[in-house]
Amino acid sequence: MAAQNSRDAGKAIDPFYHTGVADLLVLYYSSGGSLRRMADLVAEGIERVPGAQARLRTVSRLLRNDPSIPESGAPYAELGDLEECAGLALGSPTRFGNMAAPMKYFWDGTGLLWQRGALAGKPACVFTSTGALHGGQESTLLSMMLPLLHHGMLIVGLPYTQPELNATRTGGTPYGASHFAGVADDQAITDAERALCIAQGRRLAEIALKLCRA
Ligand SMILES: Cc1cc2nc3c(=O)[nH]c(=O)nc-3n(C[C@H](O)[C@H](O)[C@H](O)COP(=O)(O)O)c2cc1C
Repeated sequence: MAAQNSRDAGKAIDPFYHTGVADLLVLYYSSGGSLRRMADLVAEGIERVPGAQARLRTVSRLLRNDPSIPESGAPYAELGDLEECAGLALGSPTRFGNMAAPMKYFWDGTGLLWQRGALAGKPACVFTSTGALHGGQESTLLSMMLPLLHHGMLIVGLPYTQPELNATRTGGTPYGASHFAGVADDQAITDAERALCIAQGRRLAEIALKLCRA
């Protein structure tokens, strides 16, 4: 069945309508901490925009003994977080050139939102981290866009007007922010990677606010 891509569908739950503050969902999966650190930077960029606030959420690791509530850090995302957000920043580490299974599993559970077109017209961006510099950042970022496009979301990239995109010697792509974490997943986020994470959050928030106010 085709999704009912009505903008009105998304306005059924619209916190901006009531508060004038746009909630931007930063939804990430991280097992080693790289994506968590990137998510914090994307959230920092979002919160630099007046009228925007970041809502950090993660997804379950899908392990048999996973606690039902995370022991620390961001809470698990619920479908309502997607429905309520004015825009989305989606982060996953590269797993064999693709997004991590726990994040894919979460998106496979969003069919009801798709049927109602609940995310259609909302802006979204993606970010990732890899162990190898050429280990699949772009393929991961592009694959992460696929479910978002099926949901009718508007993909927001990183423009080359951002000077760090030409200067970086590690992560950072026009498809989204990225981090080269090294084979032990222990490399610090570089100044350029950091600036691009913040720029991405900022850009997402600015576009979301323009769409909310349109
Ligand atoms: C099962 C598995 C598959 C991975 N596949 C890749 C890969 O294809 N390319 C790559 O460069 N790194 C790969 N990595 C490394 C992670 O993407 C990298 O360590 C990332 O920074 C982890 O992010 P996190 O610390 O947020 O979990 C893989 C790691 C695991 C555990």
